[in-house]
Amino acid sequence: MKLLYAFTAAVTVVSGFPVIDNLPPDVHLRAAELATRTLKNLEAQAVHPHQPVKRQSLPLPSDALGLSRAETNCGPSIPCPYFNEEEQKISVEGEYAYASPAPDQIRGPCPGLNAAANHGYLPRSGVATIEETVSGLNKLYNMGLELGAALAAYAVIIDGDLLGGTWSIGGPQQTDALGSILGNGQGLSYSHNSYEGDGSIGRNDAYTNNGDAHSLNIEKFEAVYAVGGNDTSEDGFDQRYTIDKFRSRYQEVQEHSIATNPYYFTGAFSTVVVVPAAYNFVINFMSNHSEAEPSGYLDGYNFKKFFGVTGSPGSFVWNKGQERVPENWYKRPTISPYGLADVALDVGIGYLAYPNTLRFGGNTGSVNSFTGVAVSDLTGGVLDAKNLFEGDNFACFAFVLLQQGIPDFLKGPLADINNATSFLKPFLSPILDKLECPELGDFDQSLFNDFPGYKYSPTGPATNY
Ligand code: HEM
Repeated sequence: MKLLYAFTAAVTVVSGFPVIDNLPPDVHLRAAELATRTLKNLEAQAVHPHQPVKRQSLPLPSDALGLSRAETNCGPSIPCPYFNEEEQKISVEGEYAYASPAPDQIRGPCPGLNAAANHGYLPRSGVATIEETVSGLNKLYNMGLELGAALAAYAVIIDGDLLGGTWSIGGPQQTDALGSILGNGQGLSYSHNSYEGDGSIGRNDAYTNNGDAHSLNIEKFEAVYAVGGNDTSEDGFDQRYTIDKFRSRYQEVQEHSIATNPYYFTGAFSTVVVVPAAYNFVINFMSNHSEAEPSGYLDGYNFKKFFGVTGSPGSFVWNKGQERVPENWYKRPTISPYGLADVALDVGIGYLAYPNTLRFGGNTGSVNSFTGVAVSDLTGGVLDAKNLFEGDNFACFAFVLLQQGIPDFLKGPLADINNATSFLKPFLSPILDKLECPELGDFDQSLFNDFPGYKYSPTGPATNY
């Protein structure tokens, strides 16, 4: 499918990176070797009991809202055609038994990663290599290998240790005596505007919570829990969550942020892609794929387990660091991984179905002062609100955002490698070779200079779960 290849052409647009003094000259070579080895090993290990399911190519929908409402918990273009108990049952015993994190172990803003680390599918330390990430998330959630590699490689580059090839799912990694961490090394918890962004499903906007965008806000959780129905029992078995309900909730959260956060900002890869994708991840990765419902369903019980929440509406409690994989929980069938193309499609469908959620800009220092920046101004007139969703354009744009939408002042040593692409490219290239992207050129970040939220960059303690 063409969308899957959304990234190649954009890579060519920005090729030619200067080699710089304070990075070892072989860093790009090592990235390429690591990427090749990682993807090769993992492909070899992956179990493919059946031929992969053929994905449908989706034309631009004339009824995006209808499409959104009809979408199952399996994703936008892939069926989950069978249930296979042995293959899909997730072990929460033995080496995968739950354990609360020790004080020196890191947890952060992402319940999917926290639960994976609490069960040993990711290193329990909360610091992982790209290979560990790809393998662990594939095993636990059936995340597409290429998606795991891209997300982890981006984390290494933007908030991790470029030399060590590791990243932290929470706060900053400890540096060794020589201070070996390159890049910001702040970890996901303090990656505001580079990975973490405003308008999250359960976390506060960083500015409104003294820089803490990794702790669950229980009132916010209560509000999103309510979109699943009226079951107020402690079990919550009758609640049902769909991607469409979450897309609609995202619009409410954005509006609330604009009304309460003077520094609300959206325009970076984090806010345009990662934040809405995280809403979609709840449905596509946390749903239980049972014999009765192979496409998956998410009830209140499993939603709470994954988010580390106990109690019932009105008395919910967030148990910090205690995110769990439920017992008797079945992941997506092996044949139907959720990958990079699905992320782009799902985020794109969300913007088409709820057009008010596609925003670039921010508040200008007071609440309810949202000022937008036009897509055409950001892209030198190449894309506009109309053609953004034609063909591969949105995916091309998302990748340009990924490469260039990181505020320059957040890049630290990365600014020297010009942008993240040279490290990322080998991780993406195996899957990216046929995209039809317009020549997008440079993303004009100076248009964001007037938004105080664009420059807000909190840092934090080393461990913080
Ligand atoms: C390498 C893989 C992953 C990375 C790098 C990653 C990164 C992140 C980041 C940076 C955030 C903060 C975004 C925000 O500000 O809203 C986040 C949030 C989130 N992630 Fe992940 N994630 C990964 C995998 C997953 C998986 C597998 C799941 C589901 C099983 C998941 C579910 C979520 C959810 C639900 C949130 C929003 C939490 C909230 O706002 O309460 N993520 N993730």
